Amino acid sequence: MAGMKVFSLLAASSFLRYASAQDVIRNDTFFYGQSPPVYPSPEIEGLGDWGDAYAKAQAFVAQLTLEEKTNLTGGFANASSGCGGNIRGIPRLGFNGLCLQDAGQGVRATDFVNAYASGIHAGASWNKNLTFDRAYAMGGEFRAKGASIALGPPVVGPLGRIARGGRNWEGFSVDPYLSGILAAESVRGIQSRGVISCTKHFILNEQELNRIPTINAENETVEASSSNIDDRTMHELYMWPFADALHAGTASIMCSYERINNSYGCQNSKALNGLLKDELGYQGFVVSDWGAQESGVGSALAGLDMVMPSGLQFWGGNLTQAVRNGSVPEDRLTDMATRIMAAWYYTNQDAPDHPYPGIGLAPNLLLPHRIVDARDPSARPVILQGAIEGHVLVKNTNNTLPLRSPKLLSLYGYDAKSPDFNTPGPGFNPWSFGLQSHNVNSVICGFFGRGVCPPFAPIAQNGTFIVGGGSGANNPVYISAPYNAIQEQAIQDGTQLYWDFVNANANGSVHAESDACLVFINAAASEGVDRPSLRDDFSDALVTNIAAQCSNTIVTIHNAGIRLVDQWIENPNVTAVIFGHLPGQDSGRALVELLYGRTSPSGKLPYTVARNESDYGALLDPVGPVPPYTYFPQDDFREGVNIDYRAFDAAGIEPRFEFGFGLTYTTFEFANLASSVVSGASLSAYPTGPVIQGGNADLWDVIATVTASVTNTGNVAAAEVAQLYVGIPSAGQPVRQLRGFEKVLVHPNQTAHVEFELRRRDLSVWDVVAQQWRLELGAEYHVYVGSSSRDLPLVGNLTLA
Ligand code: NOJ
Repeated sequence: MAGMKVFSLLAASSFLRYASAQDVIRNDTFFYGQSPPVYPSPEIEGLGDWGDAYAKAQAFVAQLTLEEKTNLTGGFANASSGCGGNIRGIPRLGFNGLCLQDAGQGVRATDFVNAYASGIHAGASWNKNLTFDRAYAMGGEFRAKGASIALGPPVVGPLGRIARGGRNWEGFSVDPYLSGILAAESVRGIQSRGVISCTKHFILNEQELNRIPTINAENETVEASSSNIDDRTMHELYMWPFADALHAGTASIMCSYERINNSYGCQNSKALNGLLKDELGYQGFVVSDWGAQESGVGSALAGLDMVMPSGLQFWGGNLTQAVRNGSVPEDRLTDMATRIMAAWYYTNQDAPDHPYPGIGLAPNLLLPHRIVDARDPSARPVILQGAIEGHVLVKNTNNTLPLRSPKLLSLYGYDAKSPDFNTPGPGFNPWSFGLQSHNVNSVICGFFGRGVCPPFAPIAQNGTFIVGGGSGANNPVYISAPYNAIQEQAIQDGTQLYWDFVNANANGSVHAESDACLVFINAAASEGVDRPSLRDDFSDALVTNIAAQCSNTIVTIHNAGIRLVDQWIENPNVTAVIFGHLPGQDSGRALVELLYGRTSPSGKLPYTVARNESDYGALLDPVGPVPPYTYFPQDDFREGVNIDYRAFDAAGIEPRFEFGFGLTYTTFEFANLASSVVSGASLSAYPTGPVIQGGNADLWDVIATVTASVTNTGNVAAAEVAQLYVGIPSAGQPVRQLRGFEKVLVHPNQTAHVEFELRRRDLSVWDVVAQQWRLELGAEYHVYVGSSSRDLPLVGNLTLA
C-alpha cells in the first residue's frame, strides 16, 4: 500500500507510468490511483436514436470555418445576458447560440420562476412519475427563459459518499439505483421540453473540500483532491446512475473539478474517452464545470468538448492554432462541434418557435429588464405535491399526528418563519447570490477562483430553509414558511397560536394549555463547502428545552442531508419528528397538508440516519491534504461499493433510522412474494447487444420479475413505497442492494399488487477482467421485499437458469 501511495504521488507529478493497452487487467484494484491513457477520443456515430440529430449536425458543421467551430466550444462573457454560460451564435446559418443556466431547484438568478423541491426531496418521495412531472414543469421554465441547457437536474454526482458532503442535497439519493431511476425520469422530463439536460458532475466529485486547486498558508499550490477508486466500484456505484441518465438520452454531461485517479476530471482520457464515450456510447457533448479546465491540448484530446465560462484561457485562438499546427487533429475539433450541434438538434432546438437564448435572463434584475413570466399554472399541483412527498415522518408516538382541530398551538424555532435578511427582494437565500448576475460568483473564493478561502460553513439558516446554497439555489416569487401556512389553518380552525422564534431557551414560556408544541430547526448546506457537522448544539438545545416544558413536542427539520437526532429522539416528550428536507417554495403549505392529515406522509429516507457520527466511520468527513500528500491530496475510496446502508449492513451497525424508512398514518402488510425469470429472456452471462448511449442495449432488457402484494390494514388511505432488495451471489457484493421500488396509493382494507422489473444490469456484477457486466448464472440470488432496507418481511430467491 505504501508503495502505491508513492506511485500515486509520482502520477500526480506527471511521471505517470501509464498502464499500456497491453497490460493485463488482473484484479479490482488495477486502476486504483492511476488513470490509464485512452486515445483517440471516440467520435459521435449517431448511435441509437441519435441518427437524425447526427446527420443534421454533420451537415451544419460541414459549413463552418475553423474559427466558427472553435467558437462553438468556448464560452464568452456576454454583458447583455444573465445566462451562466454563453456560446456565440452563427447568424448566417440561423443558429442563435446557446445559453447555459443552473440548476436543480428551478431556473437560477432570475425572477418570475418557481422553486421546486430539491434533489434530495425528490429522492425522499421515491416517486417516479412525480419526478418526471417536476422535471417536465421545470424544463418548461428553462425553455421560457431561453435556457438552451439546464445545468441539472439531474445531479447524480456527488452520490453522497461523505456524510458531511456539502452538495448531497442536490442529488436524489446515496443509492445508485434510486438515483439512476429518478435521473432518467428527470432527463426525459427536461428534454421533452426542448431543453438539453446536463447531467453532472462526471465523476467522483464526492466532497467540496479541495475540489479545486487552492493556495495553502505557505503560498504554495495544492492540487485538487484525487478520488482514487477501483474499477468495479467505479462501475457498480458511481457510474451506475450516469448510465441511466445516458440511456434516457441526456445530451450533455458536465465533467468535474477534482482529480480522478490522479488525473483532472475534465482532462481524464480514461473517464471521458474511455468510460463515457466508448463504453457508455455517449453521443452528446462534455462541458467543463465552471473553471474546471486545467489544460488546452490535453483536455481536447481527452474528450472535453465545451469549456465554461470562458474559452479564452486555454482554447479560443489557441485551439484553432493547435489544430493548424497539428497538436489537435481537426477531426477532434469537428467532433466537438458536431456533438454540441447534435445535442441541439436532438432536443429539437431548431424548431422555429424556440425562444431566443437567454431571453428571460437579465444580467441585473434591479435594472429595468424584460420580464418573462416562466411560470405555468399547470405546474402548481406538481410543486405542492413534490413538496408534500419529500417529507419523511420518522417518529409518531400514540398517533400524535395528524393534529385534530387543536385549540392552542405553540410554535418555536428560527426555521418556522420566512427568512428575514437585510436585503430587500427575493434574495432570501444568503448563499444564492440571487439578485446578482451569475458572474458575481467568480469573486467568491472557493468557487471558481484559486485562493485562500475563508471558512464559509453554513450550520443552520435563520429563517426557513427551502433551497440549498450555491449554484443549486434559486429565488421563487414567494415562500410559504411553516408559520404562514399554519396561521392560514389557524384562521380557519379558530386555533390560538403562541410563538417564540428567537429564544433557544424559552424557559417558562410554554403555555400550559398547548395541545402541541411545534419546533422548527434546519441543517443548511451550500456548494463550495462541506457541512461542519451533522447536528448543532443550538438547535438540539432548542428541542430539548421545549420538550422539557411540553409533553407533546413535534419537531420538523429542514435538512440538506443527513441530520442526527440522538440528542433527543428518545425523549418521551418528543412525540413526532419529520425530516422536511428542502421542499421548495410550497414548504409550509405542504407541511400543513401532512400535519393535519389531509394527506398521509409517504416519504422514505434516501440515506441512513446513524445514532452517532462515528457510525459513518471514514465516510463521515472529507479528506484534506494530509502528509505526505500535502500538495496532491489523495482520497482513497477504500470502502469500495459499501457506502451508506451497505456499509451499515456489512459492519452490522444498527442505524437510528435506516435507508428507506418512513412512517405514515396507517399500517401495511406485505404478502405473496413470487419471482420468476421472464420467459424467452436471453440468459447469456455477458450482454451481446450493440452499444447505444448508456451501454450495451440489452443491459436494459427485463429478464426477471418479482411480485408482491401490499394491503392497507389501517384506517386511512396512504401511499406505500414497496422496496425490493437483492443479494447478488458474488464475492464482494453488498449484503443487499436496492433493485426496485414501486409507490402505490392504497385505501383501507384494499390490496395493491406490485411488480418489480429486474433488468439484466440489475442482476449483473462488473467483471473487471472481462471488462463487461456478468450475470451469476445458476447461482441463487436472494430477494427481499418490504417497506425499508431493514423491514423486509418477504424473503425469497431467484436462480437464473
Ligand atoms: C459550479 C458548479 O459545480 C456547477 O454545478 C454549476 O453548474 C456551475 N458552477 C455553473 O454555475
